[in-house]
Amino acid sequence: MSAGRVPGHGLERGRRVEIVIDGRPAEAYEGESVAAAVMADRGLGLRRTENKDARGYYCGMGVCFDCVMVVDGVPQTRTCVTFVREGMTVAHQEGAEPTAASDPARGH
Ligand code: FES
Repeated sequence: MSAGRVPGHGLERGRRVEIVIDGRPAEAYEGESVAAAVMADRGLGLRRTENKDARGYYCGMGVCFDCVMVVDGVPQTRTCVTFVREGMTVAHQEGAEPTAASDPARGH
């Protein structure tokens, strides 16, 4: 189920851009996080754990890693703190915990 976007909210959106989610084109707006664009287009699930449990937007500030997806070929990208760009490719991800490569500050 897609969460969609709220119409008539009175806020001005950024320029419309096209991104690709799981191989299909989707609309997004500059200034919008990848997580927001994916949830508006595809629903709330952003990744699945190795046990196939759905995970989605939780902290919204880059701490919990529940929103990680593969963005422009880079796995473990925190989509709540990554902003859309024209032509960006995004894919759902299964498994994989945060790694040092995705966030060296975590150190594991
Ligand atoms: S929602 Fe927690 S890191 Fe993105």
